Parts: sequence; structure tokens; C-alpha cells
Amino acid sequence: MIHGNTQGIREALLNEMERLYDIQFDRSFFLPDRLIGLLVNYTEQLNREIMVYLDRNGEILEVAVGSISQVGLTEMHLRRNFDRLTGFRCIHTHPGGDARLSNVDLQALRLLRFDAMCAVGVEKGVCTGISAAFLGEVEYGQLSVNILGPVKPGRLDHRAWFREIELSEERVQAAIAAGGIVDDAEKVMLISIDGEASLDELAGLADTAGAVIVSRELQKLPHPDPGSFIGSGKAQELSLTCQTLDVDLAIVDGELTAAQQRNLENALGVRVVDRTSLILDIFARRATTAEGKLQVELAQLKYRLPRLAGSSQALSRQGGGIGTRGPGETRLETDRRHIRSRIDELSQKLKDLKQQRDLRRNRRSKNECLTVALVGYTNAGKSTLLNALSGSNVLVEDKLFATLDPVTRRVELPGNMRCDLVDTVGFIDKLPHTLVEAFKSTLEEAVYADLIVVVSDASSPFYRQQRRVVGEVLAELGAQNKPVIEALNKCDLLPEGSVMEPADAILISASEGTGLDRLLEEIAKGISRLRHRCELTVPYAKGAVLSLIHAQGQVESEEYTEEGTRVVCSMDAVLHARVMKELKGE
Ligand code: GTP
Repeated sequence: MIHGNTQGIREALLNEMERLYDIQFDRSFFLPDRLIGLLVNYTEQLNREIMVYLDRNGEILEVAVGSISQVGLTEMHLRRNFDRLTGFRCIHTHPGGDARLSNVDLQALRLLRFDAMCAVGVEKGVCTGISAAFLGEVEYGQLSVNILGPVKPGRLDHRAWFREIELSEERVQAAIAAGGIVDDAEKVMLISIDGEASLDELAGLADTAGAVIVSRELQKLPHPDPGSFIGSGKAQELSLTCQTLDVDLAIVDGELTAAQQRNLENALGVRVVDRTSLILDIFARRATTAEGKLQVELAQLKYRLPRLAGSSQALSRQGGGIGTRGPGETRLETDRRHIRSRIDELSQKLKDLKQQRDLRRNRRSKNECLTVALVGYTNAGKSTLLNALSGSNVLVEDKLFATLDPVTRRVELPGNMRCDLVDTVGFIDKLPHTLVEAFKSTLEEAVYADLIVVVSDASSPFYRQQRRVVGEVLAELGAQNKPVIEALNKCDLLPEGSVMEPADAILISASEGTGLDRLLEEIAKGISRLRHRCELTVPYAKGAVLSLIHAQGQVESEEYTEEGTRVVCSMDAVLHARVMKELKGE
């Protein structure tokens, strides 16, 4: 049987893939050429990841379409050994050609203790490279990983890579005997009633929160069941899966009422959190500034207050993990009044900070140049773009919500102009309302910007949907009427000749630097449209004002008259105000 997402795959191809189970591969090769050839072929035909488990005898134990987090755990994973390696290696392909291993791959290796986790890059029908990770020494209570490669297929040193498995086995056994390993990643089950796309996004969030996804459950329903969100029959069924897969936590793709959460926890026998809690948890980890932390705490308290009675008494929330960060539950339960006063206190503090921020912003707009905000769906590439345009070094991660606090950089534009470019927190579908509220002051950077660049990940299959969400959030913030430039990022990942919408959008690749000149030109044009054209006479005694206009404005013509130099120029509002002030002699 072929596991994973086999929807839409031709029957004939599935049958062909089934034959992988019957092939005896040469056991003296870490990754036999024949297997590489077949995996490359199937990956190319499907344009999806293929994953196989290959045991030490050269036999395939399992074939699946999709990555580990998409497939969830199949029965093979139940062979997880507690005191040694599994005895098989997980080999999977990456259709984009990238042969490196992802964080999810490494987490899965740590948790499931494969002999090795191996990635095969596939592009245009050839294998671009191979890399593999092996369990290493224990560091800070966790197994470290050693990575070999990526190497070209012909350069793979099979003997050395097998030796790594042996070493890995010795290290793991020694570490377990010494009792030094702490399994801190939470094993989670994802539950959605919406669809695969929504589950994928939830998987991305859970991964960002450091969880390992062991099961993905889709129960299509037009509306959530009022009692238990997925219906009691399905909940019963899933409780068994939770037991067999040793699930620590179930994450539900939606917002749960107090009763639904309690009922689901009772039915599944594991802790249950919803999408909002998960996002709040990620925000709690990622907030770095004082303001960000206050905002997250406020959002958490507001979210939890009406749900206090909901959490099941049987399942302690004291142990840490997703949904437990932030204010301690006991305190919450024992003193609602205290929470309300804490909410008031936080709101006041945030109000004060907002005033300071407004003051700063006013001061900035009096003295400095126009602001351009980069907004977009999380992971669209805003931080990468900011770095590329400003030559700075903002944190870029393939994680959701890497940027929580707005970051501003000065950028030089063509035509003697400059602007302040602000990176903002990424948007997301079903962004919990409490969070939009809480982060309004941060998101307001977009509202106060003079121009907005909407950055989208054009390579995402959900590009249109994500763009719609960005539009909705901007409207909710009251920024729908700002001038907007559409930048479609990651165009390096698009097939050649792709037609993208809207037609006037600028195709860019922030990581490869393509299209950036054009984007800067469009920003410059957008800004000059905001500038106004004026005619002035600058007295000869005020030569400094003329120099200022030349330095920061755009001069169209100059004429020397009796009263002084007559200039026709365009200036932005800030420069205009400054020039007028100087001319009046203030
Ligand atoms: P949030 O902080 O979640 O809002 O994300 P962000 O929009 O700031 O995205 P970020 O710049 O952190 O990039 C997300 C991922 O996309 C990273 O792995 C980047 O390396 C990758 N990326 C960004 N731009 C490009 C691009 O032009 N091409 C490709 N292939 N990858 C890119």
C-alpha cells in the first residue's frame, strides 16, 4: 500500500510504485542507484515528495507520498525502539532540487530514532544531491545530529555513511544507558474539519512551535460539532490513535469553546489546544520587545478568561508545553479578579507605550523621510526582502512569524530619494481576533506608512487565498486606501512562463536579488506621486535652502530673477514643510 496523499495519482503509477516493495536492493549500498533512479522518476512525475523506509537488508518497508509531517505516522513508526535505532533509514525526495534536510526532518530523526534521515534533491528529472543526518552525542539533554552531504550521487561514500549508522547506534545506546536523553518535543495530533490546505498550515504552525506531528486527521464537516468539534464518534475513534501513537497533545484547527475543549479532552484522553492557543504560544516565544511581550500576555489573558471553567481538571496544565506558556493556570483559576485587574494594567501600559510610539512617529515624520511598509502573509519573504534592499541582517527563518516586532531600515531609492522601509508581523488566515487587536499598534506601522508593498509568495499554491487574507487584515486595520505596490516573491521557484496576477505586479526573488531594481523604481515612483510639485523663489541669501531642495527634492528648472532663484521642483510633504519653514525664516 502507498501511504500519504495519493489523491489524483493515476492507478497505473500507484501500481508501479507498489512494486518498490518487491525489489531486493543491494544491501551494501547506503542508497542504491536503482532506488535513486526510481525515486527521481516518481518524484518528477508527481511533483510531490516521496518517502520510503529502507531496512538494513535492502528491503523497502514503506512507501508514502508526502513529507513526514504531511503523512503523519504510519504503523512503521510504532516500531520505534526505546533503546536503539529503528533498523531502517527514512529516505525522501525534495522536488525543488534542494538536497538539504529541514528542521522537521531533524526533529523526526531525534524523536523516532531512524538509522538515518536522508534527503534526495530532484530537479528536471535528475538527482541534484543527497544528504543524510545521523544521531550524534547528547547535548543539553537532547540527541544532536551529524549531517553528511549534500553530495552528488556518484560521490556518496556508502561505507562511510554506513559507519555513521554504527557510530550512531553506539552513541544512542550509551546515552540511553546513562539516562541522559530528555524527549522534550511534544508529539501532536492535528485535527481539522476544513481541508488539507488548512491542515498544512496548521502543520507549519505546530512545527514552528517545536512540536513533532505524529498524526493528521481530517474529518470534513460543514460546521463544527457543538459538543466536541469533530463529533463524538470520531473523537472515540481518535482516542485509540492517540493511545497507539503515544500522542501528548491534540491541536484543533479552529477556535474551541470551553465545552468543546473539555469534551474533546475527556474523549481523547490527551491535552487539547486550538489554533488560537497555538498561535498565542508561538507569539509568546517570539515576542522580544517589552511591548510585544505585554501584547501577547494581554491577548492570552483575554483569550483564557472566558475559558477558565473549560479546561479539564483531570489533565494538568502545569507541565509546560504548547498552550501552557504565559501566566500560570493556577493563578488564573484562583483569581479571576486578579486577571481582570491585570488586563486593565496591561491595557494601560500599552496605551502609554502607544502614546510614546505615536510621539516617536510624529517626530520621525517631521524630520525624516517617507515610510514604506512591507506587509504580507507569514513566510512570504518580507525579512529577506528587507535585508536584500537595505543590506542589513534581519533574522530570516523558514518559520512562521519570525518577525514579531517591526524593524525599520533606511533604503536609498533611484532619483536621489530615500525611504524608511518597515518590516511587519506576518499575516495569517484565521488570525485570532484577540491578536489582531493586541498587535494593532504594531500593525499600525502599515496604517501609518505612506506606501504599502504587499509581498506575496507567488510559489505557494495558496497564493490567491493568502493575498485575500492580507487584503482583509489591511481593511480591518483601516489601511485599505493606501497606495499599494504588489511584489510577487520567490519567482525563482515558478515554472518558466508562468502568468501571474495582477498583471502590474512586480515579479521578484528576494533571495536571488532578481527584480529588486524594478521594485525600487516603483517605490520611488510611488513616493514621487506622493510628492507635490511647487514653484518657489528662494532669496539669494538663503542658499542653504536651495541646497536642501537639490539634495532631497527633484528640481525641474531653475531661473535667476531679481528676488532670488525661481525653482520648479517636487518635494514630499516633509521636505516641503521644512523648506517653507526655512523660507519664512523661522
Ligand atoms: P514572517 O516573519 O513569518 O512574517 O516571514 P517573512 O515574510 O519575513 O519571511 P522570511 O523573509 O523570513 O522568509 C521565509 C522563507 O522564505 C525563508 O526560508 C527564506 O529563505 C525564503 N525566501 C525568501 N525569499 C525567497 C525567494 O525569493 N526565493 C526563495 N526560493 N525563497 C525565499
